[in-house]
Amino acid sequence: MEPAEKATTTPVPSPDRVEGCPAHVAIIMDGNGRWATQRGRPRLFGHHAGAKRVREIVEACPDFGVKYLTIFAFSTENWKRTQVEVAGLMTLFRRYITKETRHLRERGVRVRFIGDRVRLDEKLIRLMNELEEATAHNTNVHLTIALNYGGRDEVARATQRLAMDVASGRLDPDSVDEETLPRYLDTYVLPDPDLVIRTSGEARISNFLLWQSAYAEYEFIDTLWPDFTRAEFGALCASYGGRDRRFGAVKT
Ligand code: FPP
Repeated sequence: MEPAEKATTTPVPSPDRVEGCPAHVAIIMDGNGRWATQRGRPRLFGHHAGAKRVREIVEACPDFGVKYLTIFAFSTENWKRTQVEVAGLMTLFRRYITKETRHLRERGVRVRFIGDRVRLDEKLIRLMNELEEATAHNTNVHLTIALNYGGRDEVARATQRLAMDVASGRLDPDSVDEETLPRYLDTYVLPDPDLVIRTSGEARISNFLLWQSAYAEYEFIDTLWPDFTRAEFGALCASYGGRDRRFGAVKT
């Protein structure tokens, strides 16, 4: 009898692996509204098209070598949009979670949410908690969805918790340094982003990961989010591989 083929645990590298790929990519997914308007359709049509792109980009991550993907889905400022758009987005988030849970689990994606949950409706919060629990043991890709997230709001909430620890005597104010505050941020378990991408031709960061992106590289591209493809994502990851990051130091 032929001996059984020896099992191997060595991962097979993907043919799409990108040399020097950023470990953590953060994306400001902008341009859904304009994409829909260009087609004479309501803005929510653009958000639905944008949600389909999320799946494609998440799937590309393990192939390229992106370990962490953080996406800006709804900001603390987005409540200022019309009631119809806000309600439509909340329905879309609920549907996305319900529809995608199985797929995300099967692909080994661990999902986390950052942002302040207090203003979100109970059903959405429950679905968010369930998705986090259902994927808690996955390690293939870490997907973080920023929902009711604002960088300033996050720092303010973190500072409040830090101040409470000082007031209760758990934290010595003299020990507070730049390693301390990140432990109170929503992103405390994540590495800082290496590359931040913003679609739709706007060159601003709109309150996204303010503390965490201090040394990130940025790419502002004209593509509207619903047109952003795996190929373009791969090209941006490859271009990052050629950058010289010095973190304020001089190369020796
Ligand atoms: C910005 O485009 C986009 C948003 C405020 C929503 C982002 C949401 C998605 C991509 C949909 C799904 C996400 C998940 C996680 C399911 P905009 O509306 O400001 O576009 P505009 O600048 O052209 O008006």
